[in-house]
Amino acid sequence: MSSETTNGDNDASRKIVWRLIRETVPPRWRLYVLALVCVVGVAGFTAALAYSTKLIVNEVFVADDTSAAWKVALIVIGVSAGKSLFQYGNSVISFMFNRAVATTYQKRLFRTLLGLEVTHFAGKQASAQMAQLRLYGQASARVVVGVSIKMLTEFVTLVGLATVMVTQDVVMSLAAALLFPVIFLMIGSLSRRIRAVAQAETDLTGAYFAIGSEAFAGIKTVKSYGLEQKSIGRFEAAVEMLQNRLLGIAKLTSATVPLMEFLGGLVIGAFVVYAAWQTIEHGKTPGEYTAFLTAFLMAYQPAERLSKEWVEIQKALIQAARMNDLLDTPPRQPRGGGLDLADVSSEIRFENVSFGYGRQPALKEVSFEIEAGERVAIVGRSGAGKTTLIDLVQGFYQPDSGKITIGGRDIAEVRTEVLKDSIALISQDVFLFEGSIRDNIRDGNPHASDEDIEEAARRAQVTAFSGGMKKGLDSPVGPNGSFLSGGQRQRVGIARALAKHAKIYVFDEATSALDGITERDLMEEVFLSAGPEAVFLFVTHRASTLAYVDRVMLLDRGMLIAFAEHDKLLSENETFRTLFDLALNEASKPRL
Ligand SMILES: Nc1ncnc2c1ncn2[C@@H]1O[C@H](COP(=O)(O)OP(=O)(O)OP(=O)(O)O)[C@@H](O)[C@H]1O
Ligand SMILES: [Mg+2]
Repeated sequence: MSSETTNGDNDASRKIVWRLIRETVPPRWRLYVLALVCVVGVAGFTAALAYSTKLIVNEVFVADDTSAAWKVALIVIGVSAGKSLFQYGNSVISFMFNRAVATTYQKRLFRTLLGLEVTHFAGKQASAQMAQLRLYGQASARVVVGVSIKMLTEFVTLVGLATVMVTQDVVMSLAAALLFPVIFLMIGSLSRRIRAVAQAETDLTGAYFAIGSEAFAGIKTVKSYGLEQKSIGRFEAAVEMLQNRLLGIAKLTSATVPLMEFLGGLVIGAFVVYAAWQTIEHGKTPGEYTAFLTAFLMAYQPAERLSKEWVEIQKALIQAARMNDLLDTPPRQPRGGGLDLADVSSEIRFENVSFGYGRQPALKEVSFEIEAGERVAIVGRSGAGKTTLIDLVQGFYQPDSGKITIGGRDIAEVRTEVLKDSIALISQDVFLFEGSIRDNIRDGNPHASDEDIEEAARRAQVTAFSGGMKKGLDSPVGPNGSFLSGGQRQRVGIARALAKHAKIYVFDEATSALDGITERDLMEEVFLSAGPEAVFLFVTHRASTLAYVDRVMLLDRGMLIAFAEHDKLLSENETFRTLFDLALNEASKPRL
């Protein structure tokens, strides 16, 4: 064990275990006290059972007393019953504890994750995140219950049995004790190797989930491009790799049991010789050796369980460590200043704003001013920085340099809540929660009255299709809105935004699934509903949108290269002309 304790890895492990226990045991101390009672009960009765063999041999057989048999039999039965009862209690409480700890951490993780910066989720699969969350919770529960109940039970039981052994024969007890360092060394080196293998297992499990659910999420793409074989190949490779890892771990863990059995056999052989010599030459009672040997044999089970549990905990510790890292990730910083936006206009201003995700800048020195009531189209090639720009307005990221103001107030000084309430986002792939259409519109504004919601639904032309449904606005939208068409989802998304009564409306390709006529009619209502002060930002690739905006902002590779009325851009800007090439005649229809 000494090489173990100097190992920094183990230090870290101990810290993690301690933190988990500190966080989860004290709040459930009543249940834990009950668990301790069971631990002591199991250990005490197990030791008593070992001791009772002495009575059997000495009082019944050696004393040749049949009447004592009844008495001894009753004792043995009673002790067994007691042990079983406590064992049952121990198992049930362990399970309860396990569930409680797992769910506590899963809830906490979910809360933590939702609080993180948007950047944390870039390039991460939703399903892999969920799989991870579940795994982390389970692993932590495993560690807590493993150390504070399971290993404790086995350890206290071992102490009980050792007590029986020592009271029967000190010399033989010492000989048996020599086995322990050997076992510990063995398990120590094993657990180091297992940790290394388990580390890889976690990553592989994530890949396994990601690859699998990717195929299901994109099932239509998979089928229409005939990518089944590619998906199957990727999935099978992931399964195989995971399988190999698991096999590696199994090989390591399986080695412990046979090794210990062999060592135990060696010791028992030596005992038989020693015990025979002591009994015959030195007049010790056979009952004492029976009790000793029984205790020794019985000690095998808790020792085995203890080592197995330890090994399992090593694996779980890897996940628990990652969980702790995640829990410690600082949440998205709530904006400091107490500035409000309720009393200012909806004018937006960028002053030399630069921003980059990594080293590559996504926006360079962007400056502009949008007046209250203006409707602006943001156009540019794919990757030009359009989405980045509107994400900055919404405060998802902080500019690397420069300043963004709404109504003259620096949004860095505005509380996140306020900013959120002032801006309504309608994105291309509208996200809807499972529930009714009405529920989803209400998500825009929990305080909205039924009239408000119906009004928003009417203006966003949701009623145009929900009217034909049996339950109207109370019709279910299905998981992620899958019962609705793309255009219907977008309309529900727009109604949700209208219910919010925001200052600024951001449409990120939000009308892409609507036909031209529906779009025009709908936008007319949207503008009426939002009022003359509201600012509209349309990220768009569609010429039809240009018909109802005041000005067009043209971005190119992160730079603002033009910001003007679209007729002017059309005559003066070559990039703009190529971007909106053919559809322009249609787009130059008068503004709504
Ligand atoms: N999460 C991210 N991490 C790293 N780089 C990113 C991330 N999001 C965007 N980028 C990069 O920033 C640049 C601007 O991206 P942005 O999404 O703003 O473009 P866009 O104009 O909205 O394009 P599109 O029309 O295709 O939606 C691109 O070069 C893109 O690769
Ligand atoms: Mg975009």
